[in-house]
Amino acid sequence: MTLWSSRMSSPPAEDMMTFTASLAFDRRLAASDVEASIAHVHGLERAGVLEEKETVVLVEALKRTGDELAAGVFEFEPGDEDIHTAIERRVRELAGDLGAKLHSGRSRNDQVAVALRLFTRQELARITELVLALQGTLAERAAESGQTYMPGYTHFQRAQPVLLAHHLLAHGWALARDVDRLLATLRRLSVSPLGAGALAGSTLPLQPDLVADELGFVACFENSLDAVGDRDFVAEALFDIALIGVHLSRIGEEVVVFSSEEFGFFRLDDAWATGSSMLPQKKNPDVAELARGKAGRLIGHLTGFLTTLKGLPLAYNRDLQEDKEPLFDSVDQVSLALVALDGLLATVSFDVERMQAAADSPALVAIDLVEWLVARAMPFRDAHATVGAIVRESVERHVPLAELLAVHPSFGEDVLALLEPGTALSRRRTPGGAGPEAVSQQLERFRARMAQDAERLGAERR
Ligand code: ARG
Repeated sequence: MTLWSSRMSSPPAEDMMTFTASLAFDRRLAASDVEASIAHVHGLERAGVLEEKETVVLVEALKRTGDELAAGVFEFEPGDEDIHTAIERRVRELAGDLGAKLHSGRSRNDQVAVALRLFTRQELARITELVLALQGTLAERAAESGQTYMPGYTHFQRAQPVLLAHHLLAHGWALARDVDRLLATLRRLSVSPLGAGALAGSTLPLQPDLVADELGFVACFENSLDAVGDRDFVAEALFDIALIGVHLSRIGEEVVVFSSEEFGFFRLDDAWATGSSMLPQKKNPDVAELARGKAGRLIGHLTGFLTTLKGLPLAYNRDLQEDKEPLFDSVDQVSLALVALDGLLATVSFDVERMQAAADSPALVAIDLVEWLVARAMPFRDAHATVGAIVRESVERHVPLAELLAVHPSFGEDVLALLEPGTALSRRRTPGGAGPEAVSQQLERFRARMAQDAERLGAERR
């Protein structure tokens, strides 16, 4: 039997129930619902709806229901539309008539919203931890890579040498912004909607701010229609996760390319690579490919759900039930990807010789030659044209750059030192740049930022 059967003259059609029920997926909110329901019971006691001993019985029944659900021994019944209904039904079985008081002053609309906020808060905090762990791995790999350098690319053409550490940390800083976004989303979603009722509050003397406090929310809703009618916190969570997915996909793509035989910069650890069912020689970067591929799915959840929200009138509409599956899947998939990519990056080995050989090509020093002239008072555009012409001649006539430079009126033998392997990198000293001193300062700042963010996460968790 449903909670609302008294209003209807005939039982619900089976297909109607199948279509509208959310129990199959929202049982994941069980612990959050029990937590919020206990706070609600305390609120009912403060409002004089429950006596102290009634509170004790209801809280007991809620806890036992929660334990049954956690242990997997909870028995669902055909009338259980969703996890919220199922929990209330069980409380009524356990607490008898008293159970019928549980839903006083509450609607499923504020009940669902509060449970989903609690769930999202917990999951985003967990994901933030995983991002921080991946950043930690990048920092470690960067530190141990020392002075190893590689080509830096633009348009995926070799451009200038950069420290491997610099390249790894570039991905780390993108993740730092992801952490910052997650923390901001966590703060913004920390608003309790419980007490908004179906849409307009209650005639019972409830004090929603005390319930908000008990549940560890930073604030309580200001507008009951908004409290039950919006899911922008879900959209924000989906966006934050989609963008993490985009960042992971870029790392994944580079791992795929750099571990190919053509590049040979990275060698995957056997434990983090897959083989082929047919081709015995294959060692495939499936983890990196899936990290790249998952982004599509995560972006899909965001755009799909934004489309669901678009144009919905206030306040609650059943459309909002569509918030759960994309959220659950996004938190799961991004967690899997973060953990797997962390494992891959922690164990990948770098072929220093191949990376450095690729970066030692003299053409990558072209801008240094330009700046060498600029430092000797030549206008930049003239210097650029001078070096461009030398590079063109070198390519067209197949003459090594060094030979042309040695006899060029603007250069001479002196400049050849710039072409020595590793020199271009060590001469790069500007803050935030790819040279050794700047990168070692960057690494320190990166670690400080991680420590700070870990503290901020602790504060959001409370
Ligand atoms: N399972 C539903 C959801 O997640 C519960 C809300 C139903 N509320 C209602 N007024 N019909 O949105």
